[in-house]
Amino acid sequence: MFIESFKVESPNVKYTDNEIQSVYNYETTELVHENKNGTYQWVVKPKTVKYEFKTDIHVPKLGVMLVGWGGNNGSTLTGGVIANKEGISWATKDKVQQANYFGSLTQASTIRVGSYNGEEIYAPFKSLLPMVNPNDIVFGGWDISDMNLADAMARAKVFDIDLQKQLRPYMESMVPLPGIYDPDFIAANQGERANNVIKGTKKEQVQQVIKDIREFKEKNKVDKVVVLWTANTERYSNVIVGLNDTVESLMASLEKNESEISPSTLYAIACVLENVPFINGSPQNTFVPGLIDLAIQRNCLIGGDDFKSGQTKMKSVLVDFLVGAGIKV
Ligand SMILES: NC(=O)c1ccc[n+]([C@@H]2O[C@H](COP(=O)([O-])OP(=O)(O)OC[C@H]3O[C@@H](n4cnc5c(N)ncnc54)[C@H](O)[C@@H]3O)[C@@H](O)[C@H]2O)c1
Repeated sequence: MFIESFKVESPNVKYTDNEIQSVYNYETTELVHENKNGTYQWVVKPKTVKYEFKTDIHVPKLGVMLVGWGGNNGSTLTGGVIANKEGISWATKDKVQQANYFGSLTQASTIRVGSYNGEEIYAPFKSLLPMVNPNDIVFGGWDISDMNLADAMARAKVFDIDLQKQLRPYMESMVPLPGIYDPDFIAANQGERANNVIKGTKKEQVQQVIKDIREFKEKNKVDKVVVLWTANTERYSNVIVGLNDTVESLMASLEKNESEISPSTLYAIACVLENVPFINGSPQNTFVPGLIDLAIQRNCLIGGDDFKSGQTKMKSVLVDFLVGAGIKV
């Protein structure tokens, strides 16, 4: 059976006018290496980690700023949401396809919430907590290429032609803001598309990103902004004592325009200083120790070390299975 919505009654959950407060005790184990009568042995002990969550009941008007907005991911996400919002349908070789959110974890999946008279009951994932409807998200962001989103969509070659034609009028006027470009951190073949870059020192670049976030918020009248890195994967930056290992060293390196601070770390510094969540979608070490400490100090959410969709998700599932089965790749 399927239900649309529900309320939780639990000693661990409290609803107030503004938020849902919940406590989750995560049961895990911890190992200790103990010396018992002269011989060392490994001892497994149960451990409970207590997590406290607070969720705003008020769903904000949300802006999402993508770093790498003009890429395959950025243009496809933007076009996909517009197609849903505008109820677009398009002809494929087989049939007329209507836009939908199938494949979206939050919009299309369900979750078992319990049983009723012995029968399992499911609810939409999006009914678990107050969540933004993706159709209401305002998109924006940066790219080192100044191509508008309609041309970027054509360059990406993801959507069917008929869908591209219908999306074009909505996306032509969307042009990414100049991005932070450092050829030392991404593949050399990106050089030719880098015609839209923020000039100045690293500190000035951070200041520009902060300014961009503020202006985007103001212009679109959004309550909250989330920044998502979907630009090219960078090389690992070196973690060096006195350079980026603490908040102090990282901020001093910014002042000194140190070359080893990557563009993704610069965007992340700007976000943390603005208390804007920064989510990283590429496998790189954006979150150097100094940045993690800065985020903790400022109580700002940072997260992610790769997107998990499509092929990447499949690989993760297989790795989990193989490791769980004790099979070495
Ligand atoms: N597509 C997936 O399913 C998937 C899964 C996991 C991870 N990723 C990661 O997501 C990232 C994007 O993937 P994609 O297929 O969209 O790539 P893409 O090359 O099409 O897009 C990247 C965009 O980022 C821009 N860019 C590069 N450096 C920038 C910077 N410093 N600031 C602003 N813009 C910058 C480029 O001009 C380009 O438009 C890649 O790093 C990829 O590894 C993708």
